[in-house]
Amino acid sequence: MPRFPSEKLKNEVVLRDPVHEYIHIEDKVIFDILKAKEFQRMRRIKQLGPISYVFPGATHTRFEHNSGVYELTRRICNIFARKYPSMAPNDGLWDDNNRLLVECAGLLHDIGHGPYSHTFEHLFGTNHEKIGQKIITDPNTEINHALKQVSSNFPDQVASVIAKTYPNAQVVKMISSQADADRMDYLQRDAYFTGVSYGQFDLSRILRVIRPYSDGICFTNNGMHAVEDYIVSRYQMYQQVYFHRVGRSMEVLLHHLLQRAKDVYQKGNLQVTPSLAKFLEGNWTLADYLNLDDGVMETNFSMWTKANDPILSDLSKRYLYRKPLASVKINKETKNLLPKLKTLINQAGFDPEYYTDTNSAFDEPYDAYKPTGKNANSQIEIMQDDGTLIELSELSPLVRALNGTFQGDERFFFPKIMLSQNDEPQIFDPLYQQFQKYVRNGELRYLRRPNKKKKDN
Ligand code: NI
Repeated sequence: MPRFPSEKLKNEVVLRDPVHEYIHIEDKVIFDILKAKEFQRMRRIKQLGPISYVFPGATHTRFEHNSGVYELTRRICNIFARKYPSMAPNDGLWDDNNRLLVECAGLLHDIGHGPYSHTFEHLFGTNHEKIGQKIITDPNTEINHALKQVSSNFPDQVASVIAKTYPNAQVVKMISSQADADRMDYLQRDAYFTGVSYGQFDLSRILRVIRPYSDGICFTNNGMHAVEDYIVSRYQMYQQVYFHRVGRSMEVLLHHLLQRAKDVYQKGNLQVTPSLAKFLEGNWTLADYLNLDDGVMETNFSMWTKANDPILSDLSKRYLYRKPLASVKINKETKNLLPKLKTLINQAGFDPEYYTDTNSAFDEPYDAYKPTGKNANSQIEIMQDDGTLIELSELSPLVRALNGTFQGDERFFFPKIMLSQNDEPQIFDPLYQQFQKYVRNGELRYLRRPNKKKKDN
């Protein structure tokens, strides 16, 4: 008797998918999760949020990504079951009894995300991981109901895989590690929908060389270059897409827009949809959270373009009509010039609290491959012919070089008009001139002092 008995569908259901071609659904429980209202909600939440303002094609949703991660876990299970089936307990090979568990975890790994998750969490203290656990384990959700067909404690087990506390490392690492089904799906999917070519890597080759071992998942040494290629693609996606300065600028605008809405709401005069009002009040339930999606947020932004508060109205228009803030790179030395710049911005009529910000690429919810540090336990291992494991960057000069580079930057955001006063003389021209003296070629610079000739005595 399998550990997680599953009722099969009479007829397999297939979804067409531009990245994986087909997503195959064979189990009733998977199909029921897909049909659950909490899962259907993912159709209304964009995977990349404001990045679609930079790459217009990137309006794909979390529904597609979650389904894609499910499909990859299903394929990896197929490969493991065929090539590396466990023959005895603890032999380090794959026990296919875990299949349904890991497939459900793949399907539900991002179920706790709401609209603009990253920004929203900062402002309203929500936590997508905790909410995800709740959606899976709360007896009032359709997802919980679907999972309970398998067994009464199945929801808890699925939640523990996502929380990385499930005792089988192969199961956990298939969903969350440096080369897991989650990243493999989002890199390819985000590359496809942004239209960039650098996120492409040889997924079919990766799936030929992936294998289980006693402490998790690794790759065979004949696939080293495919894995190397995956790391390079990932590096390029961070640099070109996820860390894009305009995408980050739109996120800064979004943050200030919601912050301003919160402040105006507390003073008691703001039109807002009931679902969002709960968050502005700081008094929300799971049901309120599940009522939010991109459409609800955009409806509010649209209403706020006509708000009485001029800052809120302006920020809403800037966001909806894509008027990003400009930005410059800052570093440790130039950071102390920011108060000076903020004073100039304030003199030009912009409240620095709502029209400036600093944002570090390191704060983004993505990371680069670092085999040491806090994620060291999920490093990528390459299995040699004799069964020993070697960490990828020890074998690959390319990956080693990427590890040594400084990835991402810190930027200061401010209204673009501060940079656009060259052609039109304005009444406050000297102010703008002074501002621009500090900003050169997209970087914040110290003013050069005139060279004084040293007197020879
Ligand atoms: Ni994901």
